Amino acid sequence: MRIAVVGSGYVGLVAGACFADLGHDVILVDNDQPKLAALRNGQIPIHEKFLPELLGRHRGHRLTFSDDVKEAARLSSVIFVAVGTPPTESGEADLSYVESVAREISGGINDYKVVVEKSTVPVYTSDWVRRIILRNGTDPDLFDVSSNPEFLREGTAVTDFLFPDRIVIGCDSDRPADVLREVYAPLTNGSYYQRADAIPQPDRASIPPPLIVTSTKSAELIKHASNAFLAMKISFINAVASVCESVGANVSQVVHGVGTDSRIGSRFLNPGIGYGGSCFPKDVMAFRAVAREGGYDFRLLDEVMRINEDQRQRFLRKVHRALWTLRGKNLGVLGLAFKGGTDDIRESPALFLVQALLQEGSKITAYDPAAMERAKEVMPSGVRFANSPYEAAHDADALLILTEWEEFANLNLNRLRQELKYPIVIDGRNLYDPEVMAAQGFTYYSVGRDAAHPDGVPSAVLKNGKRA
Ligand code: UDX
Ligand code: UDX
Repeated sequence: MRIAVVGSGYVGLVAGACFADLGHDVILVDNDQPKLAALRNGQIPIHEKFLPELLGRHRGHRLTFSDDVKEAARLSSVIFVAVGTPPTESGEADLSYVESVAREISGGINDYKVVVEKSTVPVYTSDWVRRIILRNGTDPDLFDVSSNPEFLREGTAVTDFLFPDRIVIGCDSDRPADVLREVYAPLTNGSYYQRADAIPQPDRASIPPPLIVTSTKSAELIKHASNAFLAMKISFINAVASVCESVGANVSQVVHGVGTDSRIGSRFLNPGIGYGGSCFPKDVMAFRAVAREGGYDFRLLDEVMRINEDQRQRFLRKVHRALWTLRGKNLGVLGLAFKGGTDDIRESPALFLVQALLQEGSKITAYDPAAMERAKEVMPSGVRFANSPYEAAHDADALLILTEWEEFANLNLNRLRQELKYPIVIDGRNLYDPEVMAAQGFTYYSVGRDAAHPDGVPSAVLKNGKRA
């Protein structure tokens, strides 16, 4: 099929490359000229596993690049809209990019096309996209608007796209549903997975994935509800971690016990410094705003957001408890990206914490396997960037772990201890077992678990009965 994907960001670029791998001819459209030039030259603008392979395979053949939405729409039978939907001041999604793309698409509709929302958008956006296209003089029989929410996670985006738990298509008639069924047929009929050159299958893949057909509005809601639920799961376990800290229980044990209930499940139950990224913070706010507009006061989501913000403050207090004063202290920081496996720093809790620590007068030496270039663009000049975790730890008063990169969970602890001025690790992602860290000679602070000390003594019980 001939497919246009408008918006070549974290979602559009991955979707376009994967559609090409399924055998479709894809035009990736973007209005960012330097990004287009880089893509045409074979550069990969984002850090994403398997993306270089896919772009290498299809660039210039099944995958071409353009800045012309109208022409790309004219040449395609399906047009996916994947431009950003950032939050406005009031927390609603800013749909102005979606609207301007819809206007441009209308100019290219010369025969039947399906216009598909891939960006995360509030319910009713499909109605508006349809209205905008009609207002621009397009024959109503020549197009349908559908919703096909994307559930990929950054860092594992390509495998999430090609091995999804489910594919949701929201259509209000059979014709667009048939077109979208054809787009995803290589996944739903399993033929993609038979291919020798298919991207390797991850654990837990449900093959072939089920295709769920709903109304357009339901599909729009499925996306917001899924992201809000996952964010709620994270805030829930973060709240449980706080209770664990105050009573001296171990949140890892609690998660194990709770998560093995198959009705709950253990995924997205990792406590830490709170969720970040371009989706959860924005989508929880937008879903809250959608509900409010529809007359429902979704206060549960306020609490999800409050717990998330509190989680960062709690971590800062933990740093204070571990180090007392911060002015002039040298802190090694591992991780700047909002999660492991990506160079994305949007709404990164790690960046927030680094900025807060700088404001308190600490000196920061940071290391991230992929996000340092992007971080340099937004960080104050005071931050030093290291070439390895050990260089970040060198001569530091303490080491802070702020992103759950796999590499940070497998450090050479002997070497780390030798690099540090004081063997103190404050882990915002619970990557290590406190007992192991204590045995290796560290004072180790984490989330929802007692601090561990080299002599094996559990965290001190303060005079007022609270634990350190
Ligand atoms: C996407 C979705 O669009 C968003 O709704 C979802 O919640 C998160 O994922 P993402 O791919 O992360 O956003 O955004 P970004 O990396 O900013 O990519 C958007 C792309 O669209 C950019 O390359 C930008 O240049 C392009 N764009 C934006 C256009 O081509 N035209 C526009 O009018 C606006
Ligand atoms: C999310 C959704 O998972 C995905 O389905 C949707 O398409 C886009 O939004 P993404 O933001 O890329 O994906 O990453 P995700 O793995 O969900 O992590 C989001 C944030 O939550 C990160 O900051 C991560 O560190 C944090 N997180 C995740 C936790 O703190 N604990 C967890 O158990 C899981």
